[in-house]
Amino acid sequence: MPTFKAPRGTHDVLPDEHPAWARLAWIADDLARRYGYRPMTTPSFELSDVFERGIGETSDVVEKELFRLETRGGEETALRPEATAGIVRAYIEHGMRTWAQPVRLSTLGPMFRYDRPQAGRYRQFHQWNVEAIGHPGPAVDAELLELNLRFYAEAGVADVRAKVNSIGDGACRPGYLEALRDFYRRNSGRVPAGDRRRIATNPLRLLDSKEDALVALNREAPRISQFWCDACREHFSAVRVHLDALEVPYAVEERLVRGLDYYTRTAWECYRTGAEGQQDALSGGGRYDLLVAALGGQPTPGIGFAVGIERVLIALEEQRAEGGEAPEVPVPPAPLAVIVGAGAQDTVSRLRLARDLRAAGLAVHAELAPRKLARQLEGAARDGAHFAVIVGDEVAAGNVVVRDLEAGSQRTVALVDLARFLERGEARHRHGAGSRPERPPSMPAPS
Ligand code: HAM
Repeated sequence: MPTFKAPRGTHDVLPDEHPAWARLAWIADDLARRYGYRPMTTPSFELSDVFERGIGETSDVVEKELFRLETRGGEETALRPEATAGIVRAYIEHGMRTWAQPVRLSTLGPMFRYDRPQAGRYRQFHQWNVEAIGHPGPAVDAELLELNLRFYAEAGVADVRAKVNSIGDGACRPGYLEALRDFYRRNSGRVPAGDRRRIATNPLRLLDSKEDALVALNREAPRISQFWCDACREHFSAVRVHLDALEVPYAVEERLVRGLDYYTRTAWECYRTGAEGQQDALSGGGRYDLLVAALGGQPTPGIGFAVGIERVLIALEEQRAEGGEAPEVPVPPAPLAVIVGAGAQDTVSRLRLARDLRAAGLAVHAELAPRKLARQLEGAARDGAHFAVIVGDEVAAGNVVVRDLEAGSQRTVALVDLARFLERGEARHRHGAGSRPERPPSMPAPS
C-alpha cells in the first residue's frame, strides 16, 4: 500500500489517459474559436461572497459543497465550485460592459465541490464553461444550446438530447415559489423530514430532488408554465422557434429547475438517451439575467453552460463498452529519433545533440543511461522511434551515423544536415502525425 493516495474524489490523469482528455479540450477550444467565444481564465478561488451571492446561499453547492479556505488576513475565500460567478465578477471588475455586447467567453479548468464522491461525481472535476454576457436573447440562447450539443457531435458522444425549460423571472417566479410552498406544506407528510426546512428556504431544491419520495410527490406539483408571465412565455416560445430552425434535439422538461439559484428563464441539461440519472448530466446551463446585478454590476442579462469533461469521458467509455461507435483517441506520437552513443559513458554528447535538434523543433529522446550501444538501440526501437542517431568517433569529423530503424538501413550524415535529414524522414513517414492533434494557438495546455 502506498503511504499517500490522491485525496478522495480526485484523480490523476495519467499519460496514457491524457490524449483522450486533451482531445476534448482541443475540441472545446476549437469550437469556442469557431463560434467566437474568447478564452479567458479566472482564479481557482474567489471571495466566498462571490459564490454566496452569485450561486445562492441556500443552494447545495454553497450550503454543503463549498471548499472554504482557511481565513487569512480576514478574507473569506473558497475554491470555485463552478466558473460562472467568477466570470461575472471579472466582467464587472474589468468593465466589460463597455465592450461590444454580448461578451462571449470560454474557459476550461478545474472546479471543486465537497460532495460525496461516487461514479461521475468528484470533488475536483473539470468543466468547459461558455458564457455570453450582455444580450437578452432569445437567439443567443439557441446559439449556446446548439454549441453545447455540437460539442457532443464533434466529441463522438451519440444520442445526446437536451432537456429544456423556462424557470421564469423576477416577475413571475415569486408567484410560482409561493404555489410550490403551499403544495409542499399541504403534503409535508410526504416530504422527507431532513428536507422540510427547504419548503420555506428553497422549494425549487425539493422539485429538483432525486429522492424517490419526492420524485413521486413532484409529479403532482404545480408546473412553472402555469405561472409564466407574458414576457417569459414569449421568450421561451421564441427560443423554441430558433432551436427548431437549427434542428437542435431537445425536449421540454417542466420539472427541470437546475441546482444553482441564479437561473432565470431558459435552463437546460444534456443527457445521453437512456442515461438520465443524477450523475449523468453531461452539461447544464441557462440564463442568469439577475446575476450581474446580484454581484454589484449594472443589470445585465447573461447566459451560458458548462460541460463536465469527466462525465463525457465516462460516456465515451460506456459507449465503447456497449459496442457502439466511439472515436479514435489520438496515440501520442513516438519520438522521431533517439540519440544514442557508441561510448557507454558519453551522455554529454548525446544530450548536447538532442538539445540542438529539439531547438530546431524536432521531437527526439536522448538515451541517458550509461549502457552499451546494443542496449541503447533496443531501447530506441521500444520507444517506437523512426531513427537512431548514433554519436560515435565520426563526430570529430562533424558526422553521425543515422540508423533507419524501420527500414533497417543506416548512413552517415553531416551534423549540419542532420535536422533537415530527419525532418525529411518525418515528412515521408508522417511519424505519429494524422493522429496528432494540431493545437490551436489559443489553447493552454490542459491542467
Ligand atoms: P452544473 O450543472 O452545476 O452547472 O455543472 C455543469 C456540469 O458539470 C454537470 O452537468 C456535470 O457534467 C459537471 N459536474 C458538476 N458537478 C460535478 C461533480 N461533482 N463531478 C463531476 N462532474 C460534475 C454549472 O456549473 C453552471 N456554472 C453552468 C453554467 C454556465 N450556467 C451558466 N453558465
